[in-house]
Amino acid sequence: MSDQYDVVIIGAGPGGYNAAIRAGQLGLKTAIIEKRDTKKLGGTCLNVGCIPSKALLHASQLYEIAEKDFEGIGINTGGLKLDLQQMQKQKDDAVEGLTKGVEFLMKKNKVDVFLGTGEILAPNRVLVSGSDGDREQELNTKNIVIATGSEVTPLPGVEIDEKQIVSSTGALDFANVPDHLVVIGGGVIGLELGSVWRRLGSKVTVVEFLDRILPTMDGEVSKQFQRILKKQGVDFKLSSKVTGAKTSERGVHLTVEPAADGDESVIDCNAVLVAIGRRPHTVGLGLETIGVKSDKRGFIETDHFKTSVPGVWAIGDCITGPMLAHKAEDDGVACIELIAGKAGHVNYDTVPSVVYTYPEVAAVGKSEEQLKDEGVEYKVGKFPFAANSRAKTNHETDGFVKVLADAKTDRVLGVHIVGVEAGELIAEAVSVMEFGGASEDIARTCHAHPTRSEAVRQAAMGVEGWTMQA
Ligand code: FAD
Ligand code: NAI
Repeated sequence: MSDQYDVVIIGAGPGGYNAAIRAGQLGLKTAIIEKRDTKKLGGTCLNVGCIPSKALLHASQLYEIAEKDFEGIGINTGGLKLDLQQMQKQKDDAVEGLTKGVEFLMKKNKVDVFLGTGEILAPNRVLVSGSDGDREQELNTKNIVIATGSEVTPLPGVEIDEKQIVSSTGALDFANVPDHLVVIGGGVIGLELGSVWRRLGSKVTVVEFLDRILPTMDGEVSKQFQRILKKQGVDFKLSSKVTGAKTSERGVHLTVEPAADGDESVIDCNAVLVAIGRRPHTVGLGLETIGVKSDKRGFIETDHFKTSVPGVWAIGDCITGPMLAHKAEDDGVACIELIAGKAGHVNYDTVPSVVYTYPEVAAVGKSEEQLKDEGVEYKVGKFPFAANSRAKTNHETDGFVKVLADAKTDRVLGVHIVGVEAGELIAEAVSVMEFGGASEDIARTCHAHPTRSEAVRQAAMGVEGWTMQA
């Protein structure tokens, strides 16, 4: 039996490791447990999520720019050649560097790291089984934080083998560029990783169950963005479902039906990416043993991170809310602050979401559809990047900014951006919304020229109809 801990955290993803750092900073005696085979900290995000996907998105985007745009701006590089092995290596190097950084942060903040699987035996006892299965250790603790994250949602009839039929993890690791990649699910993973392989030479077909891609985003954004991706060469089969898959040496044979029933069609391809969402990962944790309640979809039920069992807390992807690294991180910090008797809080109304394609898509707050459903009266201001001087100078004019503000108070309710660097531009909107600001606050704030941020200002000006540029 170990010394008494103040907090034992199960799972070392962005939720868990940020919770551990904050706990260390606040002087709590802290342990973190991680079961990943590679023995690396950082969770899904650092190992097989945000970081490797962004490394490949960045590299593949540079490749496409060199291939298609360099000549037009007067740069001749000679024969361009893809070295996929090196591109994968630089991705692995980025992951390695960042996971090492998390190890360092655990040491710096005096957090004890246990590599193995955590199982809750009682509200104050956690068993750690070594990843080699032969060593067990019990940790005594005042508080347990469950930060076990999520895993890919399987699709019946389309079995993932991580070779021909892959999850995002396999799609980050292809050794060769597939000739034809079918992506099942037109959500964030499908569009980001579909973009990577299209840029590197794959024909990409996205099969989406609903009648639009990115179904949780603003409808106008979905529509414009699909048009842009189509122009880039991505094929879409909307309102369609994959009903089965057969693999052979020649490739994968998929059967597809209209979502609302109808005649079956077939697609023969070389690889399939299943990206129809993620589900909470809580199997084998011992939740039933101690009576922690979960909802129908398996998310742990919480009230300000407290589960149904006193002393047991949960954060990140395994509880409800957006399944995003920065949300998990904020959950982790707030949860520890509550454990330490402070006022931890996360404002879920201002969590931004970004799709890191080219151009990017970014959003914060409500979509027009949500405001209509809620019966909120709102005003709209819009501005196209085609009228923004920086975007025009850089030949990157696809997309627009849309600001939604309360019709009476002018308070900003939502901002939606399709455009290069949308993920950076959205931060201004997040800050304004966090401070309860109005569209006029953005409109009357000086923005540097020539920058893309001027498009955000012009869209805000548009709410009251005094846009300057057109
Ligand atoms: P995780 O990161 O999933 O970490 C949980 C950890 O717990 C895992 O390492 C797991 O091994 C460990 N664990 C589970 N059970 C046990 C146990 N019993 N004992 C010990 N350890 C255990 N989000 C963004 O915000 N931006 C992005 O760009 C982005 N890109 C993504 C790209 C892909 C391909 C994917 C799949 C996801 C992406 N996400 C992105 C989502 C992001 O990765 C998650 O929201 C985030 O990792 C959730 O953090 P977490 O700490 O809750 O869980
Ligand atoms: P998602 O929820 O974003 O998209 C899944 C898509 O699949 C939806 O459009 C849905 O309608 C569709 N779908 C569901 N069942 C289907 C079926 N049977 N056939 C065809 N289509 C079907 O989920 P995704 O892309 O798997 O990502 C999982 C999570 O990871 C997301 O919640 C996201 O937040 C997170 N993530 C975040 C990223 C970012 O912040 N940039 C990048 C990648 C992932």
